[in-house]
Amino acid sequence: MTAQATIEVKELTSALGAEIRGLDLSAPLSDTDTTAIRQAWLDHQVLVFRDQHLTDAQLTDFSRHFGDLDSVPGWEPFSPAGHPNVLIISNVQKDGATIGVLGDGEASWHTDMSYLDQPPPGSLLYSLEVPETGGDTCFMSMYAALDALPPDLRRAIEGRLLNHDSSHDSAGNLRSNHTAFEDVSTAPGARHPIIRIHPETGRPALFLGRRLHAWVVGETVEASDTLLDQVWEHCTREEFTYRHRWQAGDLLMWDNRCTMHRRDPFDAQARRIMHRTQLKGDAAVEAATLA
Ligand code: SIN
Repeated sequence: MTAQATIEVKELTSALGAEIRGLDLSAPLSDTDTTAIRQAWLDHQVLVFRDQHLTDAQLTDFSRHFGDLDSVPGWEPFSPAGHPNVLIISNVQKDGATIGVLGDGEASWHTDMSYLDQPPPGSLLYSLEVPETGGDTCFMSMYAALDALPPDLRRAIEGRLLNHDSSHDSAGNLRSNHTAFEDVSTAPGARHPIIRIHPETGRPALFLGRRLHAWVVGETVEASDTLLDQVWEHCTREEFTYRHRWQAGDLLMWDNRCTMHRRDPFDAQARRIMHRTQLKGDAAVEAATLA
């Protein structure tokens, strides 16, 4: 007899997001539940698991069910000792230095590390301490945004490549070992089709990375900015989004191939500590995203 999955999937919005109930992620995960979670992730793009109690080893083990893990180049000092695939995202200071990255400011809409040739297909974020207010993370469905794109705008971006700047993080800071530039058409980074095919679902999705320093390859900077402003204005409508209000013990898992996310700022005096893992990109899978 085939084992039944134990999970319950509760849709959060019609565009994206589902809460997964009935699982303690610190316990070993069955193959049946792994398959059910993966299917829910593909169907809903962002999964929410509440009330979890995970060590870094358990977070790493759970994440590995969905692929090999990667670390973020340049941010290696912000991993807990002995857990190189876990990145601390935090504003908390210890001995005069911050224990994590991204501080307390806004992180603008982005897809994780889209500036790589093989960006991470998915990311997982686990909350240990959260402020009472602020610091919400919002997600956008890039399937829904593309499906509703006016046809003339869709024609204007079809078959076009976008340059994804690698020199700034999602808080807008210049990364170490990078130099500032004036002309976005000279920005370092990776080029991806603006519309990509999701390699597992076969659905087309917008792939925008970040607005700051993006450039539509082959356009003048002015024409590129005009086109991107129109696409971004369309995408950032609330109907394509899900807002997550964090509680300690939440684990979120999102699909970078069909979502973007952003984070609200929060009170600098409040403490916010999150631990993140991310799945490793793959050249063969990436080739399947070409629209
Ligand atoms: C991120 O952009 O990966 C972090 C989001 C957050 O801090 O909520």
